[in-house]
Amino acid sequence: MNVEKILSEMTLEEKASLCSGGDFWHTKALKRFDIEPIMLSDGPHGLRKTNRNHVVTGADDETAKAVCFPAACATASSFDRTLLEKMGKALGEECQAEDIAVILGPGVNIKRSPLCGRNFEYFSEDPYLASQQAAALIKGIQSKGVGTSVKHFACNNQETRRMAVSANVDERTLHEIYLSAFESVIKNAKPWTVMCSYNRVNGTYSSQNKYLLTDILRDKWGFDGLVMSDWGAVDEREKGVAAGLDLQMPSAHGKTDAIIVEAVKKGELDEKLVDECARNVLKLYDKYKTNHKGGSWDADEHHELSRRIAAECAVLLKNKDDILPLDKNKKICFIGAFAKEPRFQGGGSSHIDCTQVTSALEAVKEYCDVEFALGFEAESSEPDEKLISEAEDLAKKNDVAVIFAGLPDSFEFEGGDRKHMRMPDCQCELIERIAAVNKNVVVVLHNGSPMEMPWINKAKGILEMYLAGQACGGAACDLLFGKVNPSGKLAETFPIRHEDTPAYIGEFGEGDNVYYNEGLYVGYRWYDKRKMDVLFPFGYGLSYTKFEYSDIKLSADEINADGELTVSVTVKNVGKRSGKEVVQLYVRDRHSSVDRPVRELKGYEKVSLEAGESKKVFFRLDKRAFAYYSTAEHDWVVEDGRFDIEAGASSRDIRQSAFVYINNGYTPRVKFTINSLIMDILAYPTAAKEFFDFLKQELTSEGMDIHAQRFEELTDDMLTVFSDMSVRTTMDFLTTKGITREKLTSTIERLNVIVNEGAEE
Ligand code: BGC
Repeated sequence: MNVEKILSEMTLEEKASLCSGGDFWHTKALKRFDIEPIMLSDGPHGLRKTNRNHVVTGADDETAKAVCFPAACATASSFDRTLLEKMGKALGEECQAEDIAVILGPGVNIKRSPLCGRNFEYFSEDPYLASQQAAALIKGIQSKGVGTSVKHFACNNQETRRMAVSANVDERTLHEIYLSAFESVIKNAKPWTVMCSYNRVNGTYSSQNKYLLTDILRDKWGFDGLVMSDWGAVDEREKGVAAGLDLQMPSAHGKTDAIIVEAVKKGELDEKLVDECARNVLKLYDKYKTNHKGGSWDADEHHELSRRIAAECAVLLKNKDDILPLDKNKKICFIGAFAKEPRFQGGGSSHIDCTQVTSALEAVKEYCDVEFALGFEAESSEPDEKLISEAEDLAKKNDVAVIFAGLPDSFEFEGGDRKHMRMPDCQCELIERIAAVNKNVVVVLHNGSPMEMPWINKAKGILEMYLAGQACGGAACDLLFGKVNPSGKLAETFPIRHEDTPAYIGEFGEGDNVYYNEGLYVGYRWYDKRKMDVLFPFGYGLSYTKFEYSDIKLSADEINADGELTVSVTVKNVGKRSGKEVVQLYVRDRHSSVDRPVRELKGYEKVSLEAGESKKVFFRLDKRAFAYYSTAEHDWVVEDGRFDIEAGASSRDIRQSAFVYINNGYTPRVKFTINSLIMDILAYPTAAKEFFDFLKQELTSEGMDIHAQRFEELTDDMLTVFSDMSVRTTMDFLTTKGITREKLTSTIERLNVIVNEGAEE
């Protein structure tokens, strides 16, 4: 299709008409050019194809059956890119069969607070991990000729007042924490589309935020796909066009198309910007036409795949006395509503109409007979004495009691945040009471985000399944009985208490403003900096075997900024059964002119090892692995100095470390003013000499030789007094006639030239 030719033949009205949807899920048709509507559909961990055309009434609701794969909270914990690519391919096949042009996801928003109601749809508190897992998923989906829409760009980190709130975040934090996963995904996986968020970022709605949609996304990162709005996220459409929002979704019934036309006619909007939006819609249409093949898929196969994926994602949190894997010859009972009706997905736009669901109670028949007691009602909080005592009676008769617990649907859903980090009381009480009558308690958890666990010492085993998709029951049994060895690691910290969490104070803001006061210190960056105890750290997860690390090696002792560093470390399975280990690589900046997190994840690999086997694992670290975002340069910079390279089994279990020097020639640019403190100048000996020479000369010329002499000697006492004072104050105090501001300013300028000699422009 010749996009430019069609564009040149279109009227302004036709171009504007392409800038919004035709209905709830489709783009518009343009018969004159044989352009048909194409379908955009949720996402992200399964296909939700619905003909529901009204958000409120749900009229004519009819949804295609699809496989619900594990949600991102789970898939992130797999730390396995290959697995995500496989899942993406399966999603792509289902979309092809259903004529979907773009599946709406994945979501790479950062888990700023564990209470965000949509955390289950997001990957991690760490941008590197989120970007890697999301990129693999996108590559898988798009390899099948179906587009993706990375969402929600940007700073949609809460559901509270999501359509009004402004996420107020400083420039460095914005880039290092909240944009970085988007950036990496856009550069490395080339998603067909990006979806902007509902909220404002630093006061401006994302849907009309030129800084985000054009300056960063297109100009800095080179994105050349289509930007669509989240459903209903558009405020002032003409501002959106000017900012780079190509497509408004869903349909605005022509109202905003007319606004665009009028703005152009009045000379308030450049028609070229409308052309750009229409061009991106046409290019998307063309991509769909070129890649659409239709086809079919096998529901049973995808269900099985979903089971295998779920098993790779689960995290074994506790395994005292090796209670797991279970011995199927023992008497085992299952307790808890989630054994019978698992909680495997979250509420809202990602909710899938599943082909089938397997509960643990059904799946366990593949292994052995178990008895069952309900213990609690899924949606209730109040302990039910009858249900609990039935469960106690059952637990007394059995060798092991496996309790399926977690968070109910009503706790985690799109559009609302959790109010607290607790599990329902009835479940906590059930665990305590069962543990009082049976010392062999295993808790299997179904939840989309961390919870407090006041009962933790009562359970010998804890298996975190997260929201593991429709085949979660089978996966849970495969892990419980040891058919699969757990290999997931936490993609987020489990704090001890909600009060410990980084965003706790002012968490979701006041009115329409939330301030990200914790800055860079989100997730493990916060707990590590404050040396806080946590329930389970980022990157943590047990296995039924054990691994030893040895022999970390770096390809060089010293590199320059363009050089790459190769790191290798040997991992050995020293246990009795095969298993997989996620080797994590953290980088730690030892000398920096700016505050930096203690350590940051910059690489990971999942390795499969037979009992006794060892393998060398390799990582490549490029410039970005050492960089921080400089607000002086408005860009990423790498400073010279020592960096520690740490290989670990979790962020708090570093097994091997080595260090490298970066010799880059980069020193951050310095800008002194007359209000700089003397201590700032003292940090640069050449500048300090120049400054004190000037000072002595001025004092002498004013006849204050005694003072001049004291600056000649510059004792420690003098430095203590003066270093906290500003240049301006020092001058005011010392000189009787005073030095003119101009003279002072030109001296300071000279200092700036001296200190920045050799620094990057
Ligand atoms: C959600 C998006 C979703 C869209 C379409 C919005 O409410 O925020 O994630 O893709 O609806 O269902």
